[in-house]
This record gives sequence, C-alpha cells and structure tokens, in this order.
Amino acid sequence: MAQINAHYLKLKAGYLFPEIARRVNTHAQAHPQARIIRLGIGDVVRGIPRPIIDAMKDATEELAHDATFRGYPPDQGYDFLRQAIVAGDFAPRGVTIDPDEIFVSDGAKCDSGNIQEIFGSGNVVALTDPVYPVYCDSNVMAGRTGSAGSDGRFDGLVYLPCVADNHFSPPLPQGHVDIIYLCSPNNPTGTVLTRGELSGWIAYAQREHAVILFDAAYEGYITDPEIPHSIYELEGARQVAIEFRSFSKNAGFTGVRCGYTVVPRELVGQTGDGQEVPLHQLWARRHSTKFNGVSYPVQRGAAAAYSPDGAAAIQELIAFYLENARIMRERLIREGMTVYGGVHAPYLWLQMPTGTSSWDFFDHLLQEAHVVGTPGAGFGAAGEGYFRLSAFNQRDMIQEALDRIAAM
Ligand code: MLT
Repeated sequence: MAQINAHYLKLKAGYLFPEIARRVNTHAQAHPQARIIRLGIGDVVRGIPRPIIDAMKDATEELAHDATFRGYPPDQGYDFLRQAIVAGDFAPRGVTIDPDEIFVSDGAKCDSGNIQEIFGSGNVVALTDPVYPVYCDSNVMAGRTGSAGSDGRFDGLVYLPCVADNHFSPPLPQGHVDIIYLCSPNNPTGTVLTRGELSGWIAYAQREHAVILFDAAYEGYITDPEIPHSIYELEGARQVAIEFRSFSKNAGFTGVRCGYTVVPRELVGQTGDGQEVPLHQLWARRHSTKFNGVSYPVQRGAAAAYSPDGAAAIQELIAFYLENARIMRERLIREGMTVYGGVHAPYLWLQMPTGTSSWDFFDHLLQEAHVVGTPGAGFGAAGEGYFRLSAFNQRDMIQEALDRIAAM
C-alpha cells in the first residue's frame, strides 16, 4: 500500500477558512432566514475595474484567431507584465529590480506556501505568532517540524509573539534561525513594520545568513509614506530577501488569480558542503517544473492594473475598503472595544475581554448577530484573546454588521 506523507497528520484536520465556512454553512442551514454578513476570510466583493476587464476581454478575443493565438505562456510570465511591474511597483520607489527577477504566478498564497521547497529540511524556521497559516502549515507538511503541543505550536519552529505589548512587531529571535517569514501590512493583525524595524530584520538576516520571506500582499493599503511597500526599499535587502506580491486585494483578483514573487540574483543559499547556490536558479527550476504559467488574458489584465486608468481605479477600490476599515474602527472603539490595525490594512484586530476564547466569541457573534469574523486563535497561540474582522464588504453590510455587534 502506498505510504502517506505522515507529516500531514500533524496538522489540524481542516485549514482555518474551510473550518469557518463549515461552521457558517451549518449556521445558515439552521437559520435559513438569517442574513449572514461575512467579515471572515479576506475576500474582496467589488467588481474588477473596467480597464482591467476590457484588457482581459481583448486578450481573450486574441485567442480566438490563429494570427494572435497564444499557447503556453513564458515560464516566468510575459515580458509586458514583468516590465509593467518593474515600472509600476518598484521604479517609483527607487528600487531596481530586473524583470528577470520576477516570477509571475497564480498568487501569493501559492508562492508563499511553495517557496519552502527550495530550502533544506534541516533549516530552522521562524514565524510570527499570530501568523498567516500557510507559512506554518506548508513547513509542517514538508517535515520541518515535530508535533504540535497542546497550545497548537509545533516543535522545531521558532515563534515570534506579536501582541499588544510589543505593538505587534515581531521580536528578533533569541538565537539563530535560517528562514524568517514576515508579512507587512500584516495578516492578521493589520499592523505594519516600520523602516527601522525592517532594517533590524535585514541586519539580523545578514548576520545570521538567514533568508527573509517577505509577504507584501497588502502593500497597496499603506497610507503613510514613511512605511516601506517593498523590503527592497531598504539597504541590503536584495542579499537576504524574497518578496511576494498579489493582485488579489488591490485589483480584485481573488478569483482570477495572479501574483508574483521577486527573487534577486544576489540571494544565495548553501549546500551541505558549503557551496553557494543562487536561490533564483532553484525557484526558476521549481517554477518551470511544477507550474505552467498564468493565462494570457489574466496577465493582460494584471498589466492593465498599471495603466493610468487601471491604477486610478485600483486606488479607488483600496480607498473604499480603507474607508470601511475606518468606519469599523471608529465605531468599535466608540462601543468600548480595543481595536488594532485597520489603518494600513483591510483587517481589524480586536482585543477580546479577558477570559473570552476567540472561538467562543466567533460562535457567539455568529449565533447572536449572524456576523462572521475570524478567531485569533486560528492564526496561532498568541492570537488567542483576539478576533479579526475584515473590511472587505459592501458599505451597507459593514454598517449593518456594526449595528448588530453594537446591539450585542
Ligand atoms: C485571509 O482571510 O487571511 C486571506 O483571504 C487569506 C488569503 O489571502 O489566502
């Protein structure tokens, strides 16, 4: 009989969001008349901007004609998109990235989950706690951890607690680690890393020859010009960091799927006998072996996000969700809650009253208000005592959810 990868059995049975969906479906069946408001998974609700849709439609039409038909896309993505990314996301911030260092993909979730494949199984991995579960679970699946303890933490991982006392900024590890996952603006806490904090991480990575896996999927939500959008805005980052980007939360591509990963040429890892190998070479090999590219219409749509009209429409979308976040934040604070995040991110991180479990609060909110959030404990042990609300919904739904929460 085929042997399974037993590391999978170390994981909780279900991934966080399907587990939430399961509870919500049970609730919906029991209360068919309830109007459930979803502020759980960070899924966008507004339509994709017209210039992007038009670009996708035109590209789809091209596929209907022999003269303009396209088959397999280039491994790393079409030049037109990688050039647009360099010109739109990096050049205006004074960052030099070569289009050849960009790998277009089907999203930051897939890339941040798959990237660990190019690293050896013996690496020590550091994660923030709470954390986007993909970083943790993908390392458990790969056998880089022991079993989970009663608090859900896995042996062998280094957890960096992010709580109110440290302003949700991860402390540097006490000792050596090889790989560090950072996410800013942060999912789930909605907080950001400052230039000074990121410099500290780069210095740590340089000292320890560690690699930073920097998830910038929410960079479009940064409202303070002092906060870096890319880790490469900081001196030395090219030697120590890989960056993930997404079109999901800005251009509305959660269903369409497109993102990209930057692997600078200078970034190296080493073999067991100390030989240095560029990580670019390994990720290129992985990408071309296991991935067959993002479809042409989707890449044309992504490129249109950088056109003047596309970029303006995206700014309008982001402003809409940020305004939701502001309304939520101000109202919840008025109602007496302690609220973090929601200024540079579409997520609010609420502190629960002492002794309230976040899953109990999840169930209570669902039962009493028919409002769905995400329990902090679902993101890690240090998330217990907190609750995440997403600002991704229509304005009237946000207002109504707030009224229902207030009435509780
Ligand atoms: C979330 O709710 O944390 C996000 O939607 C997850 C994701 O982007 O995969």
